[in-house]
Amino acid sequence: MAPVLNVGIVGTGIFARHMHLPCYEDLSDNFKVVAANNRTKSKALDFAKLAGIPESKVYDDLDGILNDKDVSFIDAMLPVQYNLPTVKKAIAAKKPILLEKPIAANLEQARELVKLAEATDIPVGIAENWLFFSVIAVAEKHLARIGPVVAFIHNSTAPCSTSNRYHSTNWRQHPEHIGGILSDGGVHQLGLLTSLVGEFDRVSALTRKVHDNAPSDEIVFSTVTLRDSDVIGSFNYGTDFAATKPSIYVKIFGKAGTVVVDLSDKKQPVVRVRIGDTAEDAGDEEVYPVEYDRSYGVKAEFMNFHEAVVKKDKTLYKGSPRRTFHHLAVIAALLESSSKNGNSVKVQQP
Ligand SMILES: NC(=O)c1ccc[n+]([C@@H]2O[C@H](COP(=O)([O-])OP(=O)(O)OC[C@H]3O[C@@H](n4cnc5c(N)ncnc54)[C@H](OP(=O)(O)O)[C@@H]3O)[C@@H](O)[C@H]2O)c1
Repeated sequence: MAPVLNVGIVGTGIFARHMHLPCYEDLSDNFKVVAANNRTKSKALDFAKLAGIPESKVYDDLDGILNDKDVSFIDAMLPVQYNLPTVKKAIAAKKPILLEKPIAANLEQARELVKLAEATDIPVGIAENWLFFSVIAVAEKHLARIGPVVAFIHNSTAPCSTSNRYHSTNWRQHPEHIGGILSDGGVHQLGLLTSLVGEFDRVSALTRKVHDNAPSDEIVFSTVTLRDSDVIGSFNYGTDFAATKPSIYVKIFGKAGTVVVDLSDKKQPVVRVRIGDTAEDAGDEEVYPVEYDRSYGVKAEFMNFHEAVVKKDKTLYKGSPRRTFHHLAVIAALLESSSKNGNSVKVQQP
């Protein structure tokens, strides 16, 4: 049986309580949440009650939980400007660490984080759960059937929601991370898209607010080229529109057919395929429903990090700092391009 890893939670906010804790509990053959630390201790104590953590394992500070010998790894869910200082301490304490996305608040911090992570054997992972969507493997199988890819459209548009509990958090309302809501959710979109088509080279983008009082731009429309490739595409994203049906899809055009990954219905992801060089020789549309994952990839992400920690091999974890740097770097390039009225901007490397 796989060893049970003891998890120390740092940052016991909404996502810790409503997603990570239930996922660890569902994976009790592999994980046990044993310790917690949070800026506001009363909230850590509430979390501890929920998780069955004894009060003696609720720490006042990061050093306390990092030095707990019973803790196998840290799962940090903090406003992302704290990712870099938290990683520095975790590496010094030789504690593997999983950090929530985006990798950091800006590219300077992200670059330093990549450097630190690559200079140690301690696993450092970025929890971009969209990298773990099972729809990716299904799509990849069919991408192999449509010949060389020529172009793609990434469209992720949805209405704003006043009941979204995440939006009202103070650190999202006053973002220190570049892009605000655009990087918060945008890195997920980019994780999915680049898993399917490859990494971006240059972007030409315009970003805008939908709401005058929004803390940062909320929507982006852009054209894109891929690295070392002739493939072109568009990346359009915004989840703060007025009433509209959520429409989330990646459409990939090959020379011999088309693959569509459609996530518009959260509970019914689907891959649609049409094979044929022309309208005349097109086969019927093939539809491949993908099983609904209530954890949106989080459980698969945890199991992947588990493997990296148990085997002491950081390279096994898919959400490496280098890979996830790219997703934030694209957001930075989109913002820079928009500030230059849509001029073409090269995406920075770590
Ligand atoms: N993968 C996903 O789909 C997904 C979804 C949601 C969130 N997330 C990520 O999860 C992380 C937490 O988000 P959340 O929605 O759970 O936010 P949240 O409820 O506001 O939780 C943030 C936590 O960080 C703590 N914190 C805030 N400022 C701090 C500071 N200056 N120093 C130390 N700790 C501080 C808060 O402590 P207090 O209790 O004192 O306020 C709180 O426990 C973020 O990185 C976010 O991007 C990921």
